[in-house]
Formats: sequence, structure tokens, C-alpha cells
Amino acid sequence: MTTIMERANALLIEFEQNATSMEKVTPETVEELRIHWLGKKGIVTRLFEDMRHVPNEEKRDAGKSMNVLKTSIEASLEVLKSKAADSVFHSILNRAPLDITLPSQKDTLKGALHPITLMQQKLLKEFRQHGFTVYDGPETDFDFYNFTALNLPADHPARDMQDTFHLKTNQDIMVLRTQTSNIQIHAMLQEKPPLRIVAPGRVYRVDSDQTHTPIFHQIEGLVVDKKISFADLKGMIQSMLHSIYGASAKTRFRPSYFPFVEPGAEVDMQCTHCQGEGCKICKNTGWLEIGGCGMVHPNVFEAVSYDSEEYTGFAFGFGLDRMAMLNWQLPDLRQLFEGDADFQSQFSVFAEGAPC
Ligand code: PHE
Repeated sequence: MTTIMERANALLIEFEQNATSMEKVTPETVEELRIHWLGKKGIVTRLFEDMRHVPNEEKRDAGKSMNVLKTSIEASLEVLKSKAADSVFHSILNRAPLDITLPSQKDTLKGALHPITLMQQKLLKEFRQHGFTVYDGPETDFDFYNFTALNLPADHPARDMQDTFHLKTNQDIMVLRTQTSNIQIHAMLQEKPPLRIVAPGRVYRVDSDQTHTPIFHQIEGLVVDKKISFADLKGMIQSMLHSIYGASAKTRFRPSYFPFVEPGAEVDMQCTHCQGEGCKICKNTGWLEIGGCGMVHPNVFEAVSYDSEEYTGFAFGFGLDRMAMLNWQLPDLRQLFEGDADFQSQFSVFAEGAPC
């Protein structure tokens, strides 16, 4: 009968053979080997159980060789474990080669110009080609430029059409401009006729509901020269709208009242969303109002000391937000003011150089 000592020595040789003949040294295969030898039902554990049959006088030596077996196996397993960890590390390195010289990944969210800015650029480009000069004017202005000089003296009932943010000052009454028409007055006081200007900008009215925002954008136009007629106004607006929206864009002029023009009209464009069929955006009318226009009133010329006998002129003021809505068929005006990054990033394709 073989003694425990002999069995322990033989098992140590067997373990070494097992360990050296492992095909793959991975954390999993090393753990399998440990369970096989040192686990609850492992070879070494079972051998320890056999100790109770060993005669007392042999127990000491048997115990010694058992411990040698166990500690040798534990030490070999430790070496195997670190080999396995190395192999995992190397396989990671091989699997994902890291080239730190590659450019970093770009953020997927693209920056883009706001649709109102894009619309403004598009219009200014068009007007510049027609010989217009681009003008700028103050957003905070004296009542005189925003109303009085535009044939809207204090107490004029038409002031009610433009609910206004008034500013408290020690001097004259000041307002957040309700229209870009104030720039007409600034320009005419600075320049002698003839004149051909456009002026885009922000305007403010005490208005806030589904189709109105307290801040919105307009582009003003003013042409003053000898023998300017309503036909010039109509032709210019129509040709400008065709270049922006395509030759099939339909426009119509409806007689309307603005104190600073006579005659005056509102300009409608056929709804690009439903092609005039009628939809939610155009409130089933097939048309969307984009602004007002008309022949400059002689009282306005008088306020800026232009000779209304010698000169005539036309003016128009269009809503840039409305025009952007029509151009990109936006279902809701409020989208333009919500600052939603996903909505906004869609306009990156219209960046400079790309068709817009
Ligand atoms: N200023 C007018 C408005 O805001 C629009 C307009 C401009 C009308 C020029 C006629 C001429 O409603």
C-alpha cells in the first residue's frame, strides 16, 4: 500500500505536468485548474480527508508532505495567475491598437448659423446685387424716429397697432423700436436723395402668444429717387421673392393702411407648406402675410426735409422670421426661439458656400 507521503509526491509531479501542458493560460483555465486541485472536492482536499486513516506515528511526516504539496500547488497557481493576467493585457493591446497620433473624434453635434441669420444673409446678398446699401440703426430709439417722423404723431390712433415697450428716461420718450422703419428716418436725415437702402434688425412689441413673440426680426427697404412708382415697388418685391423662393413662388398685394405710406399694401406669399391648398400654418387660407409696403408719404419726406415735389419713393418691411418659416417650411414659429440643439444643427448644411 502506498503511503500518503508517496501519493503526495506523485501528485505534485502530476500537478506540474498538468500545469506545464496547459494549452491556454487564461484566468478561466487557471481557475479551473485550482478547483480541480484545491477546490472543495479537489484532489488535495480529498487527500487531506484520508489523513484520518493514517496511523498516528506516520501522521507528522504525512502532514508535512501534504503541506508541501498544497503550498507548492498554491505557489504555482499564483505564477500561472499572473501569466494569465499578462496574456489578457497583451490581447487587449493587440485587439485595440492605440494610435495616439490620430486626430481626436469630432463632436457629432454640428454648429450652424441660425435660420434667421441665414435668411438675412440670403436677402442681403440679393439686395446688394440690386445696388442696395445695408444700413443699421438703434434698437432703443427716440419716439420721434419710431413714430412721430413716420407720420405717427402722439395720439395717432394707429400707434395702438404696435403695443410698445416704453423706456423711462429723463429726456424725451424712448422706446424699444417696434419696427425697423425707424432706420428710414435715420438714413434720410444722414443722406441726400437718391437713396436705396435695406436694414435688417430686431424689433420689439408687447405681444406673446402662439404666433407672436415679443422679439422678432424685420428687414426694411427704402428707395427714394425721381419718378419712383408703385410699379417699381411691385416689380422689385416680386423679383426679389422669386430669387429667394424660386420662379414658381406666388405673391399678392392687398391694400392696407400704414401711416407712413400712401398707398399702402400688405404682401402675402402663397404658403410653401401646402402650395396654397390650405393647412394649419396658413390657417387654411393658402397665403401667409410676410410684410407691408407702400409709397413713402409726403409727410415723412417733410419730416426729413426731402422735397416731396421732386422725389418719390417706396418702402417695405418684411418679417424675417416668417420668411425663414416659409423657406424651410417650419411648422412652428416658436422653434426659432427655443434654442433646441438638434433643430439648430440641421442648418449646418446651409453654412457659407453651401446652397441656402
Ligand atoms: N413697419 C411696418 C410694420 O412693422 C411695415 C412697413 C414697412 C409697412 C414699410 C410699409 C412700409 O408693420
